[in-house]
Amino acid sequence: MKQNPITEAIRIQTERTNEMEHSTPLFLTSSFCFDNAEEMRAAFADETDDNIYSRFSNPTVNEFVDKMIALEGAEAGVATGSGMSAVFAGFMALLKKGDHIISCDAVFGSTHNILKKYLPNYGIESSYVSVEKTEEWETAIQPNTKMIYLETPTNPGLEIIDLDFVCNLAKKHNLIVIVDNCFATPVNQKPIDFGVHLVLHSATKWIDGQGRVLGGVIVGDKKLIQTIYLFCRNTGPSLSPFNAWVLSKSLETLDVRMERHAKNALHIATALEKHPKISWLKYPYLPSHPQHNIALKQMKNGGGIICFELKGGLESGKNFLNSLKLLSLTANLGDSRSIASHPASTTHGKLTEEERLKVNITPGLIRISVGLEYADDILNDILKALEKC
Ligand SMILES: Cc1ncc(COP(=O)(O)O)c(C=O)c1O
Repeated sequence: MKQNPITEAIRIQTERTNEMEHSTPLFLTSSFCFDNAEEMRAAFADETDDNIYSRFSNPTVNEFVDKMIALEGAEAGVATGSGMSAVFAGFMALLKKGDHIISCDAVFGSTHNILKKYLPNYGIESSYVSVEKTEEWETAIQPNTKMIYLETPTNPGLEIIDLDFVCNLAKKHNLIVIVDNCFATPVNQKPIDFGVHLVLHSATKWIDGQGRVLGGVIVGDKKLIQTIYLFCRNTGPSLSPFNAWVLSKSLETLDVRMERHAKNALHIATALEKHPKISWLKYPYLPSHPQHNIALKQMKNGGGIICFELKGGLESGKNFLNSLKLLSLTANLGDSRSIASHPASTTHGKLTEEERLKVNITPGLIRISVGLEYADDILNDILKALEKC
């Protein structure tokens, strides 16, 4: 009988070595040996699938990818050194000069830079559509459109895109759909079940879950993955076996961790929603979220991120960060330790206010990555900091 993906994420393991280890072994090696010239020739000729060199394949990296394939319900996958290299490899391997991408105005900052700053240098253009105005999506499709690329929920605005709607549109126009599933993780949302062709992750976030290593992964349709694999094999954004080992061990606890992150987040979001210092708060599993019904349809829980707007704007945002005692001020999310960030004074601080508003960064926007600490300890730290805003 086929096992549940949650069991597979715990039990898929590289073949046990002669040492009879229980935990999974780590193959920290750049290359692999052959007993003779004939074996080596056959490996290079693709007549065997023996490992040759860790830029091409590595058992520890394969183990991590196999677990992600099981969790996402995919056919194949490739791991990369970071989430951004997975995003970039997906574009570069599958698109060519003259192609066009449809994406969302609420896409992650570095992805926005790839779409708008770098891809046009190679003759690849993109159009942004609004999450809310779904009628814009079909009219944005051009004869040369090849791909729809999106994130759901988005970072940092937590907007939710209807995967059913996007996949039906893509099917009608024969487009490839790629979804960055970083915020939800595969234990909460499975885009492939809706018809998405490729799913990618910054494994640096919830998949690691303890803020230790960078990593990325892209899984999905076998033929598309083979094209991305060859691009990565030649251009080299490989995942380190050490990082893959850490990430593979982390996947053993992803399901239980995400359940607790979401439980804590819902508790905190509910308690803060009507706070007098906050003008709005977004959490996908609160009925007040503009796309709450879509979240209920495609996500098992609301995830671990909350965002809200401080009435006092930019200065309040800085005061809020300065007043926190428990939550960390750090440029990451998806950690067992709760993290607060204020994009307007940090990641987006170099932009003008007008530029920030264009990418939905309002002056008092706070993003909380809810950790695994006791929920009321996280909440009390936030409440105390709000008193100072
Ligand atoms: C939604 C999303 N996608 C991609 C990335 C990039 O991942 P990495 O930092 O691992 O390159 C991030 C990083 O914050 C992210 O939040």
